[in-house]
Amino acid sequence: MSTAVDYRQVSAKYYDEAYATKEDLQDLEFYVDLAKANGGSVLELACGTGRILLPIARQGISIHGVDNSLPMLDVLQDKLRQELKDVRELVSTSHGDIRSFRSNREYPLVIIPFRPLQHMYTVEDQVAALQTAAFHLEAGGTLVFDVFYPRFDSLRSKVGEEFLELEWTPKSDRSKVIRRYLRKESVDKINQNFTATFIFRTYQGEKLVQEETESLRMSYYTYPHLRALFLLTGLEIVEEYGSFERTPLDNEAQQMIFVLKRSN
Ligand SMILES: C[S@@+](CC[C@H](N)C(=O)[O-])C[C@H]1O[C@@H](n2cnc3c(N)ncnc32)[C@H](O)[C@@H]1O
Repeated sequence: MSTAVDYRQVSAKYYDEAYATKEDLQDLEFYVDLAKANGGSVLELACGTGRILLPIARQGISIHGVDNSLPMLDVLQDKLRQELKDVRELVSTSHGDIRSFRSNREYPLVIIPFRPLQHMYTVEDQVAALQTAAFHLEAGGTLVFDVFYPRFDSLRSKVGEEFLELEWTPKSDRSKVIRRYLRKESVDKINQNFTATFIFRTYQGEKLVQEETESLRMSYYTYPHLRALFLLTGLEIVEEYGSFERTPLDNEAQQMIFVLKRSN
């Protein structure tokens, strides 16, 4: 019944519908407002299915997206085909790795929304990704990204237990319900990352008709760790927030959101 497939093939298929139901994911307006205020072209590193990229393009802003997952980029291309020509013409994409991606363009705004930096598992990779962002910033340009603030109290608990996270009715078949469960598999507190399995279960009524799994590995950051990465990559903080409502980065913070500039 259960079929394990490559990471992001399943993600790509369910990504937009799954995250549309995630009530605490309130980042879209934040990034669109930022792009509107900035005015110029945008580079999105790890653009995925275009969840943020397309709404920015719909504002008449040109945007280039980079991602290393072909399944995610395929979903983006499918969505793009349904957009007006004016929007389509504002979007370009590259299949590339944000640790090594280089183009000959500089941008006034580079964004890395919804935690792709948490897919960088070593300090070397974390530095490389931030260097890619800094490399593509024009003079005075702005880099913005977010990561979650780790819940240290519960990080190492409940390993091996399944939790129902998200549930939705797929647009393609209203008679079904898909439930996404998360099972934490391991925690590496020294290297600050954890592994988990997403389990997607499709139900027809109460009957389980399909189960698909996908592995996940994520790093987590502390604030001083990020500050050290900024020092290493020639970036300095202009603004920092603890939520997408722009609340302070303090003891209440759920996210760590940074607005940065090149320090040289
Ligand atoms: C949580 S999604 C975020 C996608 C999009 N920014 C959004 O806000 O919906 C993380 C994305 O990072 C991409 N990713 C992970 N590691 C990457 C790498 N080394 N290079 C490029 N993309 C990467 C994944 O393919 C995925 O699309």
